[in-house]
Amino acid sequence: MSATKANVKKDAKAKPAKKEPDKAMATVYIMGKAYRVPADATIMGAIEYAGYQIKRGAGCREGFCGACATVYRLPGDYKIYTGMACMTLVQDGMYLSQIPAIPAQRPVYDLSELKANVQTFQKLYPEIFRCVACNTCTKACPQELEVMDYIQAAKRGDVEKVMDLSFDCLSCGLCAIRCPAEIVHYNVGILGRRLFGRYLRKNSDHLDKRIAEVKDKKFDREYKEMMKMSKDELKKKYYARDNE
Ligand code: FES
Repeated sequence: MSATKANVKKDAKAKPAKKEPDKAMATVYIMGKAYRVPADATIMGAIEYAGYQIKRGAGCREGFCGACATVYRLPGDYKIYTGMACMTLVQDGMYLSQIPAIPAQRPVYDLSELKANVQTFQKLYPEIFRCVACNTCTKACPQELEVMDYIQAAKRGDVEKVMDLSFDCLSCGLCAIRCPAEIVHYNVGILGRRLFGRYLRKNSDHLDKRIAEVKDKKFDREYKEMMKMSKDELKKKYYARDNE
């Protein structure tokens, strides 16, 4: 069907149709510059989509290693938000800032010379006694750990509680950059877990049994078979495994 002259004239006068915003894309600001990126991208994906190559500040890309700590702001919101760039999705209008690394105080110690008590925490991390219980560390934690509570546990010498509450820590450092008392919480958590493992852990019969089996080469035949498998065969085997 061809358009008549009159129709063409009429169409020429018609107002252009209002362009609907593209919901599949979002605008984010990276180092102050606006970029259009897929609305369902993670922050890390958006940075790469924008053309940057991430050489530092990325590791597992699965939310485990803690390398990709990020701070961001949202439009019309005074708060500074924190998150892991590989797991946090972009939002329209997000202002992003990657943190290269969190400098941290890390004393050197010989675990075999330490005792699992409050004096050890006091000697190695005396700044924990400056904690003002503001809970900022807990609010900053992307793992939703009770960070302030394990610092309080360290102040009481409750090593088991430090181990328990800090167990899923990624050591991303977001707690430490927000702390007004300048505590490096994640290193305190590591000390607690080491002290617990070395001095307070109960013996596990099934672990001892499994170690003996490994030493007796019980699994050597299976290891050899797996070493010959392709990546796809290994994947298949992995997903077909029995989950305990
Ligand atoms: S890259 Fe490992 S937690 Fe994000």
